Amino acid sequence: MQIAIDGPAGAGKSTIAKKIAAAYNMTYLDTGAMYRCIAHCVLNQIGDRFDNEDDIIKIAQSTVIRFEGNQVFCNEKDVTQEIRTPLVSRHTSDVARIKAVRDLMVAQQREYAKDHEVVMDGRDIGSVVLPDAQVKFFLDADVLERAKRRKIELDEKGNGKALAEIKNDIEKRDTNDRNRSEGPLVKVADAIVVDTTGKSIEEVYQEMKTYIDEVC
Ligand code: C5P
Repeated sequence: MQIAIDGPAGAGKSTIAKKIAAAYNMTYLDTGAMYRCIAHCVLNQIGDRFDNEDDIIKIAQSTVIRFEGNQVFCNEKDVTQEIRTPLVSRHTSDVARIKAVRDLMVAQQREYAKDHEVVMDGRDIGSVVLPDAQVKFFLDADVLERAKRRKIELDEKGNGKALAEIKNDIEKRDTNDRNRSEGPLVKVADAIVVDTTGKSIEEVYQEMKTYIDEVC
């Protein structure tokens, strides 16, 4: 069983993916965290030289990403918090647009899906990583609501930023993710669109559950 959840930043994908995985006894794979790990390693190793594709590819090739529960390890260092900073968020689409980086990540994601029942969230799951997933969702929400949700998360972590700046960052990120040539953010024809605007997590979950239960 494979469930693919794609959508723009802040649509609620990871929250709902974790809830579905727990309810259906499946494993959750946060593919965004993998690209975030690469951006984090790039920042640590060569600074913000995101135009240097060759070095970024070498870094991606030498980076070992591992998940343990809710923790993310990058070359055995716990980076769970570091990969969520606004700086890493801003630069992740810079590494995610590089074909060789995507190829490496997609290969690992498919390998993982071979021996796990997975709920995966990202941008290219239904289109590239798991094109044969039994259920595909495309989660969306009004951009202002997505920015407000992200602000609450950042404020809780002490990374407070103005709402307008967060909204601007999200819009830029979505534009980059939608317009790249490799694995762009796209709603595939067989994806079920779920608009999470104004809905609680439970409401979204119940809506998605009806579709999942049809194939389970
Ligand atoms: O989902 P999350 O916000 O953590 O993703 C961070 C970034 O990683 C996205 O903006 C996108 O550039 C990249 N990403 C991707 N493909 C995926 C998952 C994430 O390109 N499957």
